[in-house]
Amino acid sequence: MKEQLAKIRTEALAALESVKDAAALDELRVKYLGKKGELTAVLKQMGKLTAEERPAMGALANEVRAAVEAAVDAASEKLAEAALSLKLKAETVDVTIPGKTPQLGHKHPMYMALDEIKDIFVGMGFTVLDGPEIELASYNFDKLNAEEGHPSRDWSDTFYFDEGSRVMLRSQTSPMQVRAMETMELPIRIIAPGRVYRKDEVDATHSPMFHQVEGMVIDKNVTMADLKGTLNLLAEELFGKGTVTRFRPHHFPFTEPSCEMDVQCHKCGGAGCPTCKGEGWIELLGAGMIHPRVLEMSGIDPNEWSGWAFGMGLERTAMRRFKIADLRLIFENDVRFLEQF
Ligand code: PHE
Repeated sequence: MKEQLAKIRTEALAALESVKDAAALDELRVKYLGKKGELTAVLKQMGKLTAEERPAMGALANEVRAAVEAAVDAASEKLAEAALSLKLKAETVDVTIPGKTPQLGHKHPMYMALDEIKDIFVGMGFTVLDGPEIELASYNFDKLNAEEGHPSRDWSDTFYFDEGSRVMLRSQTSPMQVRAMETMELPIRIIAPGRVYRKDEVDATHSPMFHQVEGMVIDKNVTMADLKGTLNLLAEELFGKGTVTRFRPHHFPFTEPSCEMDVQCHKCGGAGCPTCKGEGWIELLGAGMIHPRVLEMSGIDPNEWSGWAFGMGLERTAMRRFKIADLRLIFENDVRFLEQF
């Protein structure tokens, strides 16, 4: 029995010394220490021993068990360490590999221009308003003095939602004049940027959806001189000191008198070139003194109050501001284009 125990110890320790993986280790553990293992089998023979022999043999058996158990633990620790170092090796990060730069978006030049416009007007005490793109024809036309039969009300120009031509995609930001007059305390100074919609084919200067910025002032003793002064300041702030502007008479149903403001072409300085189509000037906005009838319809006494308004094309302004030649570039959102600003 002594020899049997010694043999188990030698064999077990040798086998555990060279064990290769967790499964093999478990097999060895069961083989030597398990309920049906070799050590148990030997201990079962203890009954055959004499009472004198038993304690010494018991002690030896315990010693062997302890040795084998210690060897199992050591082997298990060794395997775990090996697995860890293998894992660490596999997961090594090479910090010298060049990183991948994430593709970030870029602020759109038109919104950069809008931010500048907002800053200029907020600095003069204006409030920035937001309004509905789905608008009532009464706000887009009637309350702006555009009578039934006015050409801009035509189905061929305007996106209506209903047969009765009552609900539409706004064709201008001017309904925001009315919304401001109806809801705000006088005096009023507002700008209202946003999308507008017209049935236009896409080309280098047209799009069925584009952006406008509406501006309006209503106060006492407001005159055309205030309008011109403010818009000249806007042009100089946006396009640089000394920017030359020109006011031409025009017609809008909701202003009287009405005008359009041009800025001198940045490309040719007024001589005429392809950018300004040979004109020397680029049209930027429509404006005028608010028609007394429009004030009256919104409950404002035209004998006490007067005001002016303007509506400028935002795409056009951004094109002039950043010297962009084709309107379509504004809508395509090609990152290579956007990144230039
Ligand atoms: N709403 C006009 C347009 O779209 C522009 C405008 C606004 C003109 C305000 C005068 C006053 O053409």
